[in-house]
Amino acid sequence: MFINFWYAVDFSDRITDQPSKARMLGHDFVVFRDSAGQAHCLSDTCVHRGAALSGGKRRGDCVQCPYHGWQFDAEGRCRSIPSLGPGHKVPPRARIDAYPTVERYGLVFAFLGDLPEAERPPIMAVPEFQQEGWRATNLDYWWEANYQRIIENGLDPAHNEFVHPTHGSSGENPEHRVGELPLEQHEWGWGFMHKYQGSTTRSFLTRFNEKKKTPPEAGTSHFGPNQMATYIHINETKWLHQYIFETPVDEFHTHGFLVNMRNFVLSPWVDRAVSKRNMAVAEQDRVVVERMQPQRAPRRNVKEMHMPADKIIRLYREKILEWEAKGWRIDLDALAAKRAAGDFVTVIPSPGRRDSRNWVLDPVPLIAPAKPEQASDVA
Ligand code: FES
Ligand SMILES: [Fe+2]
Repeated sequence: MFINFWYAVDFSDRITDQPSKARMLGHDFVVFRDSAGQAHCLSDTCVHRGAALSGGKRRGDCVQCPYHGWQFDAEGRCRSIPSLGPGHKVPPRARIDAYPTVERYGLVFAFLGDLPEAERPPIMAVPEFQQEGWRATNLDYWWEANYQRIIENGLDPAHNEFVHPTHGSSGENPEHRVGELPLEQHEWGWGFMHKYQGSTTRSFLTRFNEKKKTPPEAGTSHFGPNQMATYIHINETKWLHQYIFETPVDEFHTHGFLVNMRNFVLSPWVDRAVSKRNMAVAEQDRVVVERMQPQRAPRRNVKEMHMPADKIIRLYREKILEWEAKGWRIDLDALAAKRAAGDFVTVIPSPGRRDSRNWVLDPVPLIAPAKPEQASDVA
């Protein structure tokens, strides 16, 4: 799991002025809206004696700890320590980590890391959102799977034939093969678009492709370690663009958010059927991905047997190692050792740590950045 990327916290309409808990990257956060309706995401652990702020309530624009009433503002600074009595001064160390938070595409996103604004990777764009001629539907799901495994499944061009009965021939087509894919790199990942031939002529896609002059075109691309877009062009005019934001709850659990954009059958009454269909397809993936071993995506490729169709998986894993080399990867072994000691809590470092060293809680251990010559250490 990585710090220094944007993660979807929840759908906008689920975040209210009542503080609630979100678990991401193996850590707890408190999320709430201030009096102006602005969403905020802070570390959940009160620096007084460790109570969960998400069990508290909002007071003014602060979240108030349920245990002794300390109040923290949206920047994480403590504004009130009631036990000190009226007119007290709050020591500057009474501060919790606060994370940049924005709302986009019906979701609240938090930047879980300490990079200054100019250096932060972007949130994957959904350019069709609220555009004329497009309609959005949202859904989310909880999987007992590592988020990298889920992204790899979404990128995988060879699984459709076997995992999704409506996308292929369930292995019954003797002509089936995965051709060479036109892989393209962008700043935050790899992707491809290609024309489906052969087995997909039976697919549900072609039911909408009345003229069948052109084979359906489809492709996918990842953006960073946890975001992915799938583009399905049933014909020249009927398109589905699916944007998926995977939020690691911890290394073995993922909260996924789908923003599904379509430019045909735009009536709202079709929305339910679209989401039902999306969920049915996701379920077909889930039953396979949740049972994979090892549960974490392998860091190296040595104990797998790759074929040309797996090339994009290798490229995604190379990108993962690039971000690891920047020093953004959580050191899960070191974290487990600290937690095993029993009396230790860590937090995801926030941008505020760049201008002050005076913090009560320790940041999560990270894998040290690679020296330049180690940066492409892929087996
Ligand atoms: S633990 Fe939060 S105010 Fe005491
Ligand atoms: Fe799939």
